[in-house]
Amino acid sequence: MITPTDARAAFFDAIADQWDGWDDLAALAQRLAAGLEALGLERDETVLDVGCGTGNLTLALLARLSAAGRVHAIDASARMVAVARGKIADPRVTWHAVDALRLPLADASADRVVCFSVWPHFDDPVAVATELGRVLRPGGRLHVWHLLPRERVNAIHAEAGPAVRHDLLPPATETAALLTATGLPATALLDDADGYLVTAIKPRLG
Ligand SMILES: C[S@@+](CC[C@H](N)C(=O)[O-])C[C@H]1O[C@@H](n2cnc3c(N)ncnc32)[C@H](O)[C@@H]1O
Repeated sequence: MITPTDARAAFFDAIADQWDGWDDLAALAQRLAAGLEALGLERDETVLDVGCGTGNLTLALLARLSAAGRVHAIDASARMVAVARGKIADPRVTWHAVDALRLPLADASADRVVCFSVWPHFDDPVAVATELGRVLRPGGRLHVWHLLPRERVNAIHAEAGPAVRHDLLPPATETAALLTATGLPATALLDDADGYLVTAIKPRLG
């Protein structure tokens, strides 16, 4: 039986080789660099890039991190990961072709988790948030981030094909409430024409 998750991975496998041709990569790199600056990414962090696709956020992370920084780049589409690996040869990155529900990472091993342009694709966002919270260290931050406005994201998905037609990005206040309910207190910081950003901070122990 083909599940919605399998169909989505097949959809992204099929478009992986064209993905970078649909964007102005230099302009995207600039916007990502400015965004990471605004998020306060420190130079020696270990960052989880969830739904890394062809690695454009991965590249922006690497440009900002020191030699001590690390990126775990994960994606459910094996072809997306293969394209990213072909573009990026950097020993600071570890690639994983896995679903966000099953991260091959130890508890509390990431300083930061970035869900860039991936949140609407999760069938069970509560389960994913729980898994992301497991790998995030106390005091670490999780971001749900889109450069496009929510309405534009949802319009693109509605027209992109059956596998992602119903992958809708909720209002940022709803995403913040979901994260908060899973133990990751979150704030909706942006949900307008400038894009979408929800940030959660994992509580410190004790
Ligand atoms: C819209 S693309 C964005 C890719 C990349 N973040 C970017 O902005 O270029 C969404 C990516 O998330 C991946 N994805 C979707 N559901 C996933 C899941 N449950 N676990 C891991 N990756 C997933 C897809 O395979 C796809 O590569």
